[in-house]
Amino acid sequence: MVEKREFLYEGKAKRVYRTENPDLYLVEFKDDATAFDGLKRGTIAGKGEVNARVSAILFRILEREGIPTHFVELRSPREMLVKALKIFPVEVVVRNVAAGSLAQRLGLKEGTVLKNPVLEFYYKSDELHDPMINEYHVAALELATPDQVELMKNYALQVNEILARVLEPADLILIDFKLEFGLHHGEMLLGDEISPDTCRFWDRHTKEKLDKDRFRRDLGKVEEAYQEVFRRINEAVGEM
Ligand code: C5P
Repeated sequence: MVEKREFLYEGKAKRVYRTENPDLYLVEFKDDATAFDGLKRGTIAGKGEVNARVSAILFRILEREGIPTHFVELRSPREMLVKALKIFPVEVVVRNVAAGSLAQRLGLKEGTVLKNPVLEFYYKSDELHDPMINEYHVAALELATPDQVELMKNYALQVNEILARVLEPADLILIDFKLEFGLHHGEMLLGDEISPDTCRFWDRHTKEKLDKDRFRRDLGKVEEAYQEVFRRINEAVGEM
């Protein structure tokens, strides 16, 4: 088994460690939850495990469909072995249905189906509160090359199609999600996680929210929603 070595970095929801292999990092998923730029803090019991396991299932499917990811294996229910990445300071958001900041910014009713997927970039910067940027800003700030931006966009839109399709038998609608990419020996890989923390999932029939919005908006049954997402995805596609 790959050995956990020195602690490298702690984010809001994960801790990253080196291993004895310089090419591999170990990511530990925490139960800590934050929202609204860190203003709201809490704990969601069992979240770390759900996020690690849901991410593992979805990364495996994406790999099979031709999207290169940092995922190697789950070492324990909440510890993921990944390829070491140099992450681009850019978040890529894809939206299918208006919700969250898009609904607010454009005055759209939450739940409005968008005519086409909307792709957005945000600059990862705590001090600046992750401002929305476009491809010209990415180039001007040299956050990524135009070719790398093109690849991120292509991958993100492909991920959207694949995930929307695989979530159908789980009766989940993929409202929107955020991706992060990084370089591993010069190769662009999908990194971070794909979980109810980073995606909005609604029940197909009732439109009930089954994601971090339950925590953000104090909707109750937060833990239950995370468990429900894991149960449904695991049953529908876990063994695919
Ligand atoms: O808040 P907003 O509507 O812009 O979020 C869009 C999507 O990106 C949501 O699924 C949200 O969970 C995700 N997101 C994220 N991390 C951020 C910002 C947004 O995972 N820092």
